[in-house]
Amino acid sequence: MTYQSLTPDLLVAFEAIVGPAHVLTAQRAEVAATADAYHAYGHDHTEDLHFAPDAVLRPGTAAEVSQIMRLCHEGHVPVTARGAGTGLSGGALPIHKGVVLSMERFNKIIDIDERNLQATVEPGVITEAFQNAVKEKGLFYPPDPASKGSCFLGGNLSQSSGGPKAVKYGTTKDYVLNLQVVLPNGEIIWTGANTLKNATGYNLTQLMVGSEGTLGIITRVVFRLLPYPQQNILMLVPFRQEAQAAEAVSAVFRAGIIPSGMEFMEREAIAWSSDYLKIPLTLPDDITAHLLIELDGQDLDQLYKEAEQVYAVLESYDVGDILLADNATQKDELWRIRRNIGNAVRYNSVYKEEDTVVPRAELPTLLRGVKEIGRRYGFKSVCYGHAGDGNLHVNIIRGELSDEQWNVDLRRPISEIFELCVKLGGTISGEHGIGLVQKGYIGIALPDANLNLMRGIKQVFDPHSILNPGKIF
Ligand code: LAC
Ligand code: ZN
Repeated sequence: MTYQSLTPDLLVAFEAIVGPAHVLTAQRAEVAATADAYHAYGHDHTEDLHFAPDAVLRPGTAAEVSQIMRLCHEGHVPVTARGAGTGLSGGALPIHKGVVLSMERFNKIIDIDERNLQATVEPGVITEAFQNAVKEKGLFYPPDPASKGSCFLGGNLSQSSGGPKAVKYGTTKDYVLNLQVVLPNGEIIWTGANTLKNATGYNLTQLMVGSEGTLGIITRVVFRLLPYPQQNILMLVPFRQEAQAAEAVSAVFRAGIIPSGMEFMEREAIAWSSDYLKIPLTLPDDITAHLLIELDGQDLDQLYKEAEQVYAVLESYDVGDILLADNATQKDELWRIRRNIGNAVRYNSVYKEEDTVVPRAELPTLLRGVKEIGRRYGFKSVCYGHAGDGNLHVNIIRGELSDEQWNVDLRRPISEIFELCVKLGGTISGEHGIGLVQKGYIGIALPDANLNLMRGIKQVFDPHSILNPGKIF
């Protein structure tokens, strides 16, 4: 596919659509005040990658997005939609230049419908801001990616984001009812209906979820909500053997408990994060991993009964002193440590994030396999993640690796990790998407028949292949 660069005429047209204040270009970035802003649109949280776009546009309405898309469709100009740029697979990187379509001005919560437990929002709302707004009305929006304090709902939809609560409540896909989408040719559609059930034709809503900005631009979202669970219990369980922490995970579910969080952290993950946040945490020398287990609901007595059942399960394992968080501050600190592991790893070194996922009970085998592959190829990994979902984040640390080792030699062991996931019944991304950096591995998870169906769908939506080109496949 050949793409056109931006002509001066197109830039003038874009300025007329969004206003000159909402067009950033390399030339303008020579003005010091906009240089940092312009630079920031060329990277996300993926390794240390940077790709400069021809222009950044910040539209404010679906009508503006529609006009921009029509021009780019006619002119064969690449368009890469961008949320808050917290992605870990390079989905927001404008690798073919063209336009970065920043959705940051789509930041309004339009309506919280308490009668129907639904909300209508724009995609540039920060996930946690949305959670807080519905919580004020006693309502609950569960998806809570680690970056919830800065990521956008639109990015969560594009990547099918999860987070710790997914184990009990599901991921972003389980809360979306209906999407307003601008198609590449500028048409504006709604994908579904504002209903809990919908058996009307193909499910275009779910097709958009996880499509990583390759099919259309989401401009409005209708989510379903739940009543807010008022009570919770949080415990930090130290293990002397990593593999036992992974084994205990499925044992808790087999005992009939569905926790609202079941997070695995190997020793370095928790140690690096507590250091990074300067939250003191005593880690006895013989502890190699932790599980952070949360139970939630409306009835505290019931939760204590469940906690006793969890304790009974843990008696079969070699665990240290269990910390039962007994106040809101302590709970908040433990969750902050968990959520900041990625930031702490990034603070220590450039890293590659492998978002492995397997059926829950295969987690011990996956963990052992990852460490064995690391030993054989000589790389260090820090592992943590949503153990209850069988979703292990494998952070491969660059440290002192050369460019050749980092960019070329690691491909073989990463393929081996993904082959192991697939052999165990899993796949190569649970919640971070394929984007740019996992594109070369997608054939491990998906056969040609599947990829060809996806390419066909892409062709129907985006015949000129202008939306986020070079991603997924
Ligand atoms: C987390 C992100 C990396 O779970 O998904 O911390
Ligand atoms: Zn995660």
